[in-house]
Amino acid sequence: MSIVRLLLSCLLFKDTLALSGTFWHITDQHLDPTYKLTDNPELVCASSGKRPATNAGAFGDFVCDSPWHLINSSVYAMKDILPDPDFIVWTGDDTPHVPNEDLGKEAVLEIISNLTHILNQVFPSTKVYSALGNHDYHPKSQFPVGPNQMYDRIAEMWKDWLHPESQNTFKKGGYYTEKLLQRTGFRMLVLNTNLYYDQNKVTENMEDPADQFSWADQVLTEAATNKEKVYIIGHVPPGFFEKKRSKPWFTPKFNKQYLDLIQKHHSVILGQFFGHHHTDSFRMFYDSAGSPVSTMFLSPGVTPWKTTLPGVVDGANNPGIRVFEYDTQTLLVKDVVTYYLNLTYANAAGGRWEKEYRFTESFRVPDASPSSMHKALERIANDRCYLQKYYDFNSVSYDLTECDSDCRVDHVCAAREVIIEASWRLWEDTLKFIIKNIKRAFLIVMFKSRHIW
Ligand SMILES: *[C@@H]1O[C@H](CO)[C@@H](O)[C@H](O)[C@H]1NC(C)=O
Ligand SMILES: *[C@@H]1O[C@H](CO)[C@@H](O)[C@H](O)[C@H]1NC(C)=O
Ligand SMILES: *[C@@H]1O[C@H](CO)[C@@H](O)[C@H](O)[C@H]1NC(C)=O
Ligand SMILES: [Zn+2]
Ligand SMILES: [Zn+2]
Repeated sequence: MSIVRLLLSCLLFKDTLALSGTFWHITDQHLDPTYKLTDNPELVCASSGKRPATNAGAFGDFVCDSPWHLINSSVYAMKDILPDPDFIVWTGDDTPHVPNEDLGKEAVLEIISNLTHILNQVFPSTKVYSALGNHDYHPKSQFPVGPNQMYDRIAEMWKDWLHPESQNTFKKGGYYTEKLLQRTGFRMLVLNTNLYYDQNKVTENMEDPADQFSWADQVLTEAATNKEKVYIIGHVPPGFFEKKRSKPWFTPKFNKQYLDLIQKHHSVILGQFFGHHHTDSFRMFYDSAGSPVSTMFLSPGVTPWKTTLPGVVDGANNPGIRVFEYDTQTLLVKDVVTYYLNLTYANAAGGRWEKEYRFTESFRVPDASPSSMHKALERIANDRCYLQKYYDFNSVSYDLTECDSDCRVDHVCAAREVIIEASWRLWEDTLKFIIKNIKRAFLIVMFKSRHIW
């Protein structure tokens, strides 16, 4: 190789390095402080709700929320794998799945405080962008639309991570925005979508809870004026749960408002990062012409807790944590690398966090841009191999059973359609199709019978 070429390749290499950044996304840690190893499997943890924890070990059990040991292990694994990320995204749900009566404001705040503390301790000089999960309030999911003690106390805990202006909006509605890493031209928008959750009785009859939509609209409008690029993070996502047919989380009118917000401002939004599902999935947003314009990445949870949502079969997962690689000049998401703990193995032989998969490698796409994510989704929809791969990753390699045609419809439709009304339209179409065919069948019978008689 000539000197010139060598120099050139070095320069190019340096260039690609400089353009590439990384950040961690962690979510749904759900600490269960009652977790303990005892002889009675029903008494291992309160979050099992008396389901027997038959494989309980030091790192947890699939019917329980996380013991402290698992959370500690996940944070140190982050430090081990990628000690110096540009920033950390943390999208909430810190407390266990137990009845409200078993918690209380102080218990919830103590758990949030302990999780804040360990992140601060292990990543003392890393900026953390932190969103509230529906379990980070007492009573759970009942987020208010104005100042209250819990927003205040949490803002205080997160004071190292929040600018003074962020503190103000956070104390009002649990949301905030800042320049991303204080860099001009880049912005982080942290939403409190728990205000749109259909379990939230406080907000269900409101038009714009805590004025968050009008505020976000304004932030994104100004971002366009200032030529900024924006990431959005939050906890409860719009659209449907892929493991249960026709199960949306948002109140329908809020789902529509969220979708309108993204469609209006997609040109400045370079990524959306959410949690709440505990599974590994993504949601596509399309413009009116059907072109992919935005992706919402749903990162897997740390808790392995098997969901009790009726209709979901064996809805547990291995603990997962995730690194995003992005272009620091454009904020384009270049790749997604998921790491996981095989809980069964960990309990038997000790904690070992491993790479589960790299998105571009597994789905053979050049990056994780909306058009690449769309291409990956088409592969998942049309090729059994990709579908199965996606399905294995969905539970973080916990459920390796076959994804049959029903399963395919659930997962592909959930990723494609964030619109609640549209899926009603889908049902309507199906109904019309059936009616049309019944008519046709009827006519054929009539026709034939005429011939016979
Ligand atoms: C947390 O994990 C680190 C690294 O494995 C270990 O040194 C430390 O003892 C753990 N702390 C607790 C409380 O488990
Ligand atoms: C929070 O951390 C403190 C100090 O380490 C500990 O005493 C307390 O038990 C922890 N609380 C919970 C709910 O884990
Ligand atoms: C997890 O570990 C168990 C026990 O070692 C093993 O049987 C299983 O195949 C592992 N799962 C994966 C996805 O590697
Ligand atoms: Zn959760
Ligand atoms: Zn949640």
